[in-house]
Amino acid sequence: MSKISRRNFLKSAVVASAMPLMASTQTSTQQTLKFIHVTDSHMDLSDSDSIDAMWLMAEFINTNYKDLDFVLFGGDNFNNLAPQDSDAVKFKEIADTLHCPYYTVRGNKEAFPHGDKQIDLEAFQKMFCSAKELDVRGKDWLLQTKGYNILGLDSCIENHNNGKYTQETIAFAEEILQQNKPTVLVDHHPYTNFWGATKETDIHNYVLNNTDEVQKRLFHYPNLILTLSGHKHVDSVKEVQGTKVIATRGFIRPLDLDMFPMRYVELNGNNINEKLIYTD
Ligand SMILES: [Fe+2]
Repeated sequence: MSKISRRNFLKSAVVASAMPLMASTQTSTQQTLKFIHVTDSHMDLSDSDSIDAMWLMAEFINTNYKDLDFVLFGGDNFNNLAPQDSDAVKFKEIADTLHCPYYTVRGNKEAFPHGDKQIDLEAFQKMFCSAKELDVRGKDWLLQTKGYNILGLDSCIENHNNGKYTQETIAFAEEILQQNKPTVLVDHHPYTNFWGATKETDIHNYVLNNTDEVQKRLFHYPNLILTLSGHKHVDSVKEVQGTKVIATRGFIRPLDLDMFPMRYVELNGNNINEKLIYTD
């Protein structure tokens, strides 16, 4: 990150802390939280460039974002096509070199094994959700840190590319939102048709299938400050019922060969600074 943008973030954080607190949610106990959202990296063992890109991601973050609290991976992290768990193991080997903790939800790729004992939900959770600070509930997890709740929600349907929250997932999110802490949801499938698809099949394949119910039950909570999704590989920042609703451009879509996208996020109470960044 450049020094200028770093100063801008600090400046906005100072301004935010000096402003009267208007929101009804708790705002006094949170510290600044900094993380990066990387989604849809689609690492594939048959494509060495996709593996190099992941090493570049880790090196870039370790060099330029030394004070991150964690990295969030949004799913479709690897294509789950290689024999058994070999691509999951490679992804983990690379992610383990990050200087900070990382947490991940599944994408449809991780939920769609193709026949040679690729990892399933149980194997995924064993490999990627075993950190002691994660409260794993069914397919989902909660991270409580610095006064924030970070919810990793599994939007996948086994052996399908479309997504839907189960009733258990919605109920879990409701329970956590009722704690009234600033809360971030990370999942794979986006909540809105932000790219203006007109074909029903496109909408079905990409937008969370029960998004109306999910928005009705979750988005009215004023402490739901941010959602982070992926899947469509297209970047979008919108607001829905006062919640900042973001889909981060797929890491698989570089601007140039060595310029892979991800999103930097800084939270200060209910204040959100975020921007799309690229490896350089
Ligand atoms: Fe996906």
